[in-house]
Amino acid sequence: MINERMQNEINDQINAEFWSAYLYLSMSAWFTQKNLPGFANWMYVQYQEEMTHGMKMFRYIHERGGEVKLKPIAKVDTAWKSGADAFTATLNHERKVTSLINGLMDTAHELRDYATINFLNWYIDEQVEEEANAEDLLNKLKMIEKDPAALYALDKELSTRTFVDETVAPAE
Ligand code: FEO
Repeated sequence: MINERMQNEINDQINAEFWSAYLYLSMSAWFTQKNLPGFANWMYVQYQEEMTHGMKMFRYIHERGGEVKLKPIAKVDTAWKSGADAFTATLNHERKVTSLINGLMDTAHELRDYATINFLNWYIDEQVEEEANAEDLLNKLKMIEKDPAALYALDKELSTRTFVDETVAPAE
C-alpha cells in the first residue's frame, strides 16, 4: 500500500504531466498556424509522450493499492513570439519538471519507499533526455530562424518524428 503523502504528490505530478501534454498540444497548434508542420508534428509527439508519462504514474498508484485523483488542468499559453521563444518555454518547463521529479524522489527517500524510488528512476533518466532534446532544438532554431531554407530543412526533418510509447516494455 502506498503512503498517502507519496500518493498525493504523485497525483500532483500526474496533473503536471497532463499539463505538459496540454502545453505541447497548444504549441503544436501554433506551429501548424505558422506553416511549420514538422515542428507541429514534433510537438504533437511530445504531447503524446507526456500523456504516457502521466499514465505510467496513474497505473503505478493503482498497482500500489492507492487512489488516483485527477485535478483540473490549468490554462496554457496559445501563442509565442517565435519558434525559439516556444522552445525557450519548453526548455524552462522541462527544467521545472525535472525539479518536480527530484522533489518526488526526495519524498520517496524520506519515506524509505524503495519501490517508488525505483519507479522514479525512469523519470530521472527521461528528464535528462527531455532537457537535452529541448536545448538542442532551441540552439538550432537560434542559429537558423532567419534563414528560410535552413528552417524549411529542419522542419522537414522534424516531420519524421514518430511516437513510441516508452513507458511500456517492447513486445518480445
Ligand atoms: Fe514528462 Fe516532458 O516530462
